[in-house]
Order: sequence, then C-alpha cells, then structure tokens
Amino acid sequence: MNPNELQITKDTILEVNIEKSAFGGKGIAKIKGFTIFVENGIPQDRVRIVIKRKKKRFAEAKIVEIIEPSPFRVTPKCQHAEYCGGCDWLSLNYEKQLEYKRNHLEETIEHIGKIKGVVVKPVIPSDKILGYRNKMIFGCSDAPYEIDAETGDSDFAIGLHVKGLSNKVFDIKSCLLMNNTGNFILEDIKSFIKESEFKLYNKNARSGFWHSVMLRYSFEYDQWMVNIVTAFKKEGAIKPLVDILTTKYPEVISVINNITDQKKPSYVGKYELQLAGVPLLKEKILGFDFKMSANSFFQTNPLCAASLYKVVRDYANLKNHEKAIDLYSGAGSIAIIVAGAAKKVVGVEISKSAVKNAEDNCRINGIDNCKFIWGDIKENLSKISFKPDVMIIDPPRSGIARDVLKQIIKTPPKRIVYVSCNPASLARDLNSLKEFYNIMEIQPVDMFPNTYHIESVTLLELNSAA
Ligand SMILES: C[S@@+](CC[C@H](N)C(=O)[O-])C[C@H]1O[C@@H](n2cnc3c(N)ncnc32)[C@H](O)[C@@H]1O
Repeated sequence: MNPNELQITKDTILEVNIEKSAFGGKGIAKIKGFTIFVENGIPQDRVRIVIKRKKKRFAEAKIVEIIEPSPFRVTPKCQHAEYCGGCDWLSLNYEKQLEYKRNHLEETIEHIGKIKGVVVKPVIPSDKILGYRNKMIFGCSDAPYEIDAETGDSDFAIGLHVKGLSNKVFDIKSCLLMNNTGNFILEDIKSFIKESEFKLYNKNARSGFWHSVMLRYSFEYDQWMVNIVTAFKKEGAIKPLVDILTTKYPEVISVINNITDQKKPSYVGKYELQLAGVPLLKEKILGFDFKMSANSFFQTNPLCAASLYKVVRDYANLKNHEKAIDLYSGAGSIAIIVAGAAKKVVGVEISKSAVKNAEDNCRINGIDNCKFIWGDIKENLSKISFKPDVMIIDPPRSGIARDVLKQIIKTPPKRIVYVSCNPASLARDLNSLKEFYNIMEIQPVDMFPNTYHIESVTLLELNSAA
C-alpha cells in the first residue's frame, strides 16, 4: 500500500496494534500492509503513535500514549529506559525476550542464510538479568542530548548514547546493567570531571580533554579497573581523581589512562598509561583464571560466558589425540577451556595485548598445549602447519572475512564450532559453508538480557561428499 494513499507523513498521529517484535527491539505495526516500526512497542500493545520518519516502504514512530498495554509489558526499573540506547527491552518480560530472540535467530537463518529446518534450541537464560555486565563505556560530551532537569546543565554529559542517535550522549544517573558499586564510582568520576579545569570532549571540534570512561569489573574477585580515556596526555589532571578513587574504593585495584583521538566513545587508545595499581583484572570462568588488560576483548557477561563456553566445549567434543584451531581467540579463554581435551590448540588473534593475556592465562592455569599467533587471520591461518580436526571460530560482529572462509573451505576441518554475536553475519557465513557442512544445531545463549542482541553457538560437521 502506498503510504501517500494512507496519508501517513511526519507528525501524523495514529492508533495501532503492535503485532510483532522486529530485530533491533522495535515493535511492528501494520496499516493496510504498510509497516511502521514503533520505538518501545511491545507485541499486543494498543498504542497512539506519532510518525517520526516516513520512507517509501516503511515508517518509524514513537509512542505518545499506551492505550492498552500488552500482557507482556513490565514496568522498567531504570529511570533512563525510555530513551537510553543501552537497553531496548526493559519493558518486555524476560520469558518473551528469550522467545523472540530464538525466533529472530531462526528467521534470520532462513531469510539471509536461505537455510530451512535448522534446529535452533531454546535460549539458555542468563542467571542475572540486571547487573550482569562487567564492562561499561560512558562517553563524555559537552553537547548533551538534553538539558539536565535537576541541575540545568546544558554542556555536561557523561553517559550512554540515546536510542537511535548514536552521536548523542545523555547524562546518566545510574546504569542497572552494572554492579551498583560501579554507579558510585561513576558518580565520583563525574563530580570530579565537572569541577575540573579541563573540558569535556567535543567530537565535532575535536577539542576538549575528557573523552570516555570505562569501568571493568571482576565478579569472582569483586575488583574494579577504571580506565579514564582522554584526548591527550596530562597525567597531572587525572592524578587527584586517581587518589580519590583508590582511597575511597579498596576494590579499585587498577586505574589506567588511555589516550585516543577517536570521535566515538572508546576505551582503546593509541597508547595507555598505568596510573595506579595493577595493569590487569582477573576473572574466573569454569574454574580457570583469566587476566584481562584494559584493551583486550573479554565476554561482557562472565556468569553467562560459563554457559556459552560449556556449549562450545561440548560441540567441539575433542578427543585427546585431536588438534584444534581457535580463530579470533581474544584473551585465550576458549582455547584454554577446551585444551584439557585436546592434543594441541593454536589461537589466532589480531590484538597484541590479548595475545599477551592469552599466553599469561595459559601460564597461570598450567596449560602447556596452547600456542597463540599474533596477527590478522587472513595472513596467518595458512602459517599453521597442521590440519585441525576442530576449528572454533568466534569472530566480531562483521562475521568471518571472505578470504578466511575460502581458506577454511580449502582444508576443511571435520567440525566447526561457530560462536556468533550477530545472527545476520552468522546466516551469511552459514550460507557459504552449507555446501560443505551439515548444520547440526544452533544453541543461543542470552549474554545480553534486556537488549535484542543474540549470542549463539552453531555446530557444523563436514559432510561426507566434501
Ligand atoms: C568476539 S571476540 C572473541 C574473543 C574470544 N574468543 C573470547 O571468547 O573471549 C573477537 C576477537 O577477534 C579479534 N579479531 C578481530 N578481527 C580479527 C582479525 N582480522 N584477525 C584476528 N583477530 C581478529 C578481536 O581482537 C577480538 O579479540
């Protein structure tokens, strides 16, 4: 249906039913077949909406009034729920979140991967649905999303980006995704920065000093790393803050300063300075200790990572004589967890500090049959001299690079265990592999409650014709 015939334009007010949940967390309403994506819409809501953007094939809208709430709607505990870009589903009950995630994954495999009938198992839930994150990055901005109603500040925000506006930061009061001590630490950092003679970063002018704040937490050891990211080096400006934090919070065992000139909130600098304590934080998963530096990747929901890694270990099903390759190996957690059942594991990872962490992690866990190669997988996979029985692949959101897929198919391992945080790139890669591999099953694990993000593990077995 042509939206012009429906007379839908920007600012049109309509009354609609939310029929479905779209990947991305929005609700879908249909008017005579025309699709409207409704921010914060929950299936079975009856709502009054205002159109914010109209395109040829769809429109985007916001809710102005909930006429009849969906039975799946819950009252969000977070004061920022309506506009914070960190969580999309705080108003949706947890059972439905899990159901929608499984369905989205299955639909994506069908539509993008063009693969029907794959077994997608029910999502393994997270033990914690709030306070589960071990890492938060808050951006600093001198041009916030809105004027602070309490303080009247119009040039100060340290927080997360606004839903749908990735270039706008709002000033956060507290974030329920992290352990509450993190909120106290953040409050102290904000108070200090507010009084500081140095300015918040302005990404358009590329001016200012305070760029971002990263907090990292170890659940097992109840310890914190504070990473203050600045646009240039000025240790003296941060020193009094370091003293406040280390005096007030004995659990802050590490304060790091990363220096960056990137425009968006970031925790990875061009270089880093250690301002107090130790350079690493330690976490325990499945009985193994893992050290992480400020810049290395580590699963953000470590309690749930245990469930994820158990699935990986089961799917890998290594026999003691078998050899494995762990692609995108990060700080070595997967390699170390499967090493006990393998003859040998080789990991490949592009981040130098993560490789260093992985080597240290082997040492502290008494693992002597893992080796890590530092560099881009594209250039380094061919350097591995043995043909693996099992390949474990845990790529970033973009999925496996084309060139890497071609190399895998050239000397195909018997089993592939594919860990994915993005159903779309997973589906695309499975489509490339399906000629050679049987896709045995997919196990989603809910690493990111209250968001629409879906983590999953897929088991592929080489088909006899390949
Ligand atoms: C999703 S993380 C997986 C980390 C690890 N498997 C874990 O469970 O903690 C992806 C990792 O891939 C690495 N990476 C990204 N692109 C890469 C590339 N082209 N070559 C090698 N490693 C890469 C990143 O540095 C990151 O550590």
